[in-house]
Amino acid sequence: MNFFKFLNIFHNDLAIDLGTANTVIWKNGEIVLNEPSIVAYDDKQMKLIAIGTDAKLMLGRTPKGIEIMKPMKDGVIANPQIAEAMLRSYISKLAGNFARRIIVCVPAGVTEAEKIIVRDSCEHAGAKEVHLIAEPMAGAIGLNLDVLGPQGNMIVDIGGGTTEIAVIALGGIVCNQSIKVAGNVLTDAVLQYFRDVHQLRIGENTAEDIKIQAGSAYPFKGEKDLQVNVKGNDIVNGIPKMITVSPAEIRENALSPQVQNIINAILKLLEETPPELAKDIYDRGIMLSGGGSLLRGLAKRISNATHLSVGIYKEISPLFAVVTGTGIVLDAINKNHNEYRSVLIKHSTYL
Ligand SMILES: Nc1ncnc2c1ncn2[C@@H]1O[C@H](COP(=O)(O)OP(=O)(O)OP(=O)(O)O)[C@@H](O)[C@H]1O
Ligand SMILES: [Mg+2]
Repeated sequence: MNFFKFLNIFHNDLAIDLGTANTVIWKNGEIVLNEPSIVAYDDKQMKLIAIGTDAKLMLGRTPKGIEIMKPMKDGVIANPQIAEAMLRSYISKLAGNFARRIIVCVPAGVTEAEKIIVRDSCEHAGAKEVHLIAEPMAGAIGLNLDVLGPQGNMIVDIGGGTTEIAVIALGGIVCNQSIKVAGNVLTDAVLQYFRDVHQLRIGENTAEDIKIQAGSAYPFKGEKDLQVNVKGNDIVNGIPKMITVSPAEIRENALSPQVQNIINAILKLLEETPPELAKDIYDRGIMLSGGGSLLRGLAKRISNATHLSVGIYKEISPLFAVVTGTGIVLDAINKNHNEYRSVLIKHSTYL
């Protein structure tokens, strides 16, 4: 083994999906970290006391003086200080102080100011070289779509904060749509439904559990036999209570209107897609990624509305498509497969 190959072993390069809901990190060909993008901050000690899963478990249960903070909003860093502290902790855990090259994904419609915040946060957290990649591009690569070829591919990445819809061909995004309706809005719709219609106040984690366990976008087999018990407190007198609802009730009253917003955005982008690429999409259909795409019956509902086939890639979880694509690009660049540089948003100033 020559000296440079030997040094390569110690490369601490990371691919990071810094998502609104989850931060997922890839290193040396595998996912090494998957944590909610949440921290718990102690006002008195002025320091972070929990990060990721530990902080999420504290949501809605904290005593005075402890704040639960989400540094990401709508796919971008909303609180740079907290995001940086979170990233610093993850980067130093995974790469010590020697992170060399980091690729982070950002929404396709990221602004210049937002790009600077992401770059600065990674650099302050120890990265020597930072590249950015658009989330739908990374997702498409993770789903094994041929993004460098001339054929058009449509990907819909439904995350926690944003739904990113893009048509990709020849290594670039030809057209895209981004809306702030995704998993978090669906969770919120469940929470609001119980508050407004059943006078039941429930916590965010409970609402998310209900969405995941009993939520749907389309009627499903066996739903008539399923009863959902929901516990919270009565908004009138504050007393803890439990009510029982059906999955159809949750779908029709809470989730459906927001699912329709996602479908409308897909229809709008299909309308804007150039005809040559529309032809490819007719043949190939639409691919879904992101945790929000796991909502039961969503692919079927989108397929019914668009008359296109809608697929979820079976090889990897939709939750990991974006980080996997980012990792594939990182590995390709490390191996000097420079055609992959065209899929990055902007070349690092360090090169
Ligand atoms: N089985 C499931 N059914 C429905 N929703 C799910 C399921 N599993 C996860 N989710 C939702 O997926 C969302 C998180 O997805 P993901 O990790 O892809 O988002 P993110 O990348 O952090 O966000 P963004 O891309 O918007 O910045 C959450 O809203 C979560 O509730
Ligand atoms: Mg995402």
